[in-house]
Amino acid sequence: MALVNENYLKLPGSYLFSEIARRVSQFKEENPQADIIRMGIGDVTRPLVPAVIEAMHKAVDEMGRPETFRGYGPEQGYEFLAQKIIENDFLPRGVKLDVDEVFISDGAKTDTANFQELFGLDNIVAVTDPVYPVYVDSNVMAGRTGAFNAKGQFDKLVYLPCTEENGLKPELPNTKVDLIYLCYPNNPTGMTLTKDELQKWVDYARENRAIILFDAAYEAFITEDNVPHSIFELEGAKEVAVEFRSFSKNAAFTGTRCAYTVVPKELVVYDSQGQSHSVNRLWLRRQTTKFNGVSYPVQVAAAAVYSEQGKKQIKESIDYYMANAKIIREGLQEAGFKVYGGVNSPYIWMQTPDKMPSWDFFDKLMKKAHVVGTPGAGFGVSGEGYFRLTAFNTKENTVEAIERIKAKFRS
Ligand code: MLT
Repeated sequence: MALVNENYLKLPGSYLFSEIARRVSQFKEENPQADIIRMGIGDVTRPLVPAVIEAMHKAVDEMGRPETFRGYGPEQGYEFLAQKIIENDFLPRGVKLDVDEVFISDGAKTDTANFQELFGLDNIVAVTDPVYPVYVDSNVMAGRTGAFNAKGQFDKLVYLPCTEENGLKPELPNTKVDLIYLCYPNNPTGMTLTKDELQKWVDYARENRAIILFDAAYEAFITEDNVPHSIFELEGAKEVAVEFRSFSKNAAFTGTRCAYTVVPKELVVYDSQGQSHSVNRLWLRRQTTKFNGVSYPVQVAAAAVYSEQGKKQIKESIDYYMANAKIIREGLQEAGFKVYGGVNSPYIWMQTPDKMPSWDFFDKLMKKAHVVGTPGAGFGVSGEGYFRLTAFNTKENTVEAIERIKAKFRS
């Protein structure tokens, strides 16, 4: 008799964005004329830029000629891409890395979900609340949490509330934790931490031999100074942190799939005898066993993000989305809503009108205004009463969506 992994049975409902997609398609079926504007899942609308397309075409042609064809690549990615990543994303910020500290993958979602495999089940995991649900669900599936309780949280997980009272910035845990997920610029709140604020987390991790799993998928959207682009800009961070990055949102790779994870060689984890082990070696072992690398044309395409043309073209897209973020933020503020984010991030986190439950607001907004967003409660208990909008639609749709929200829900 085959037995189920009972940890899966602890998960309530479906994955957040699958549930949203289900509700939207049901509404669409019942209302085929509805002109729906999607500002829910953080999926981009601008296509791959010309520099990327050109590079990908060339690489596809190479795959069709015997003398340039490539079979299996290195599981951890090609050096040509890792080198470009280091030269462009890290060296200018004073962060030196070796190519074998950069692991190319098919997504930051995949990597943030998989990385927990390297750690024992007795580790105490801390997450911010609200939080990107993948960090929580992947730890539930692995068996690192207890049951889903009446409060709507998993036992044994340490939740770090980000509320209006603390300016949506988590406070250091008051119990000892071992693994800490941080995402900055934050999904879903769009907030950031300053260098000093993030340094406190690095110091905590150093004092407690904890590890920070730092998701920097939205780094490209930072506009303000004093906001760290990489956790490795901070003193001592290489001893305690892993960083996840993605080409999805900055370079339109949501459908193409390419990301990377930096695992410094200084980072160690301990066994029950107190012996230290290299996390870099463990991740390499994991990836070489379970992953066969990102396809060659996609890695060539990702490398083109760093060409002169690529950088220029991508900056245009980022500026375009950030102009949308401003339209959303200012439009909602003018209408009297309390709004966070949207300055260093493509996400805007708004309070629902009269603190309406966020799934109710989701349904009302979809039905009355034909605008889709993401209910804050889907990101955790502290997300209740909030709603996330993304800046990834077209400018025209963004303007139209804000007009519709104002018309139906002026706060
Ligand atoms: C989101 O909307 O939170 C993201 O698009 C989800 C993801 O990147 O997987």
